[in-house]
Amino acid sequence: MSHIKVLTVCLGNICRSPMAEGILRQTASERGITLELDSAGTGGWHAGEAPDRRAQAYMRSQGLDISGLRARQFRKEDLDAFDHILVMDRDNLRNVLMLCENEAQRAKVRLMLSYWNESPSDEVPDPYYGGDEGFALVYDWVRNAAQAFLHTFEAHER
Ligand code: 4NP
Repeated sequence: MSHIKVLTVCLGNICRSPMAEGILRQTASERGITLELDSAGTGGWHAGEAPDRRAQAYMRSQGLDISGLRARQFRKEDLDAFDHILVMDRDNLRNVLMLCENEAQRAKVRLMLSYWNESPSDEVPDPYYGGDEGFALVYDWVRNAAQAFLHTFEAHER
């Protein structure tokens, strides 16, 4: 049986999207769901790098090890390879939609926070230039969105 394939996307692929990948892996396994997961950045500057040390540390404090992930740039092929492409902010959304060639591809792309009805914002703020509290906020918001995403998926896709 093939699993649902989910790609999380941010700018650098070293903070938000690898955290989202780890959070989805955790929340899915709590629900007994297996997803095929990956993450990517719309920019390629950090390709090959492990997640930001602050992202790794915060995730470790929540029982999640994302140290083995390596950054890569988003590519056109991802639009066919994945079933859901969850982007962190409106810049990511615009950049990914720009690469879409048909409606089926466009339909896969959504702001991750759009799944969480009570979300204070539709964008996950970039924590890269801020303090540790930014990483805690990413974790909190993305975890809520991940739960809502998985709920929709359980209700409509199984
Ligand atoms: P991310 O954060 O998009 O959440 O991975 C960033 C990481 C690096 C840069 C920007 C955002 N940067 O400009 O290098």
